[in-house]
Amino acid sequence: MYNIAVIPGDGTGPEVVREGLKVLAAAAGRFGFEYQTTEYDFGGDRFLRTGETLPDSAVDELRGHSAIFLGAIGHPGVKPGILEQGILLKARFALDQYINLRPVKLYPGVETPLRDKGPEDIDFVVVRENTEGLYVGSGGFLKKGTPDEVAVQESINTRKGVERCIRFAFDYVQKRNRDKKLTMCGKTNVLNYSQDLWLRTFNETAGDYPGVKTDYAHVDAICMWFVKNPEWFDVIVTDNIFGDIITDLGAMIQGGMGIAAGGNINPGGVSMFEPIGGSAPKYTGQNVINPLAAIAAVQMMLEFLGEDGAAAAVERGTMHVTGEKLPSLAVGRMGYSTSEVGDMVAARVRED
Ligand code: IPM
Ligand code: MN
Repeated sequence: MYNIAVIPGDGTGPEVVREGLKVLAAAAGRFGFEYQTTEYDFGGDRFLRTGETLPDSAVDELRGHSAIFLGAIGHPGVKPGILEQGILLKARFALDQYINLRPVKLYPGVETPLRDKGPEDIDFVVVRENTEGLYVGSGGFLKKGTPDEVAVQESINTRKGVERCIRFAFDYVQKRNRDKKLTMCGKTNVLNYSQDLWLRTFNETAGDYPGVKTDYAHVDAICMWFVKNPEWFDVIVTDNIFGDIITDLGAMIQGGMGIAAGGNINPGGVSMFEPIGGSAPKYTGQNVINPLAAIAAVQMMLEFLGEDGAAAAVERGTMHVTGEKLPSLAVGRMGYSTSEVGDMVAARVRED
């Protein structure tokens, strides 16, 4: 029996979460697992009402769940940064979700902006470190607001944090079993300390994985290769900020934010799965937004719960819908409503 915490969040979050849960229910019926959900109302509305983002007591409650399914965080009435840091980043740090796993896979029928590239070319996974680097909030001001102002923002990288991320990535390459290749993405030509630690740890850890080919690319160059030769990549491991940036590029080449999902993983704890697009406030309540990213988040959640058969069926359902049904993933051009897209994937999962 799985206990799933559900945080629908802001904007269109609740609409896409509903479709994700619809597909989860279909998968449970078809594959015979049981679960229950607990809904939490963290997000912009609650913050505006109570001043609370994600209280410590809630973090303790979340810890008792098998997984967390998150819709979207971001509210036009709340100053940017408050909800992101107070909810999303707080959950990642407090629950020690030290991996942000982001598959970049072009499904059949989905349009990529890359001319001459197809599903056989775009299929890789980014393993982003999720609890260190520039995201720790270390730094400060001196003489703030004066002409002599100094601002420092430090990137903190620990041997333990870097190594556990790199090990996860090597293990993931083996489990994925495709090209058996891991590329480290960094900036060793400029960042002499942090990236030196990363590359040394990468090379040392590689010794434990003789069956895995290793490669290295600078972060600026990898942006170029994602566009020019995405077929070169199998699994990429990188730090928090580089991973943040390159996975937005990755999402675009797989068809946009309407299809991209991510998992915030703590392999020994509770992990959180989310569509990576935003809360799209202007489409709220219109039943027009694409739910496939939220459905892909459910797929990842099933995989991490060990329900591999169900996860694969959800992916087949998604590919059926992108390949045979939807003319486009874009709002206004899908030809179906949010709930109809969810219905089609769920129906396919039930028949799988
Ligand atoms: C992401 C988002 C977050 C991040 C923001 C909302 C804090 O961009 O999940 O990639 O930077 O990690
Ligand atoms: Mn991001």
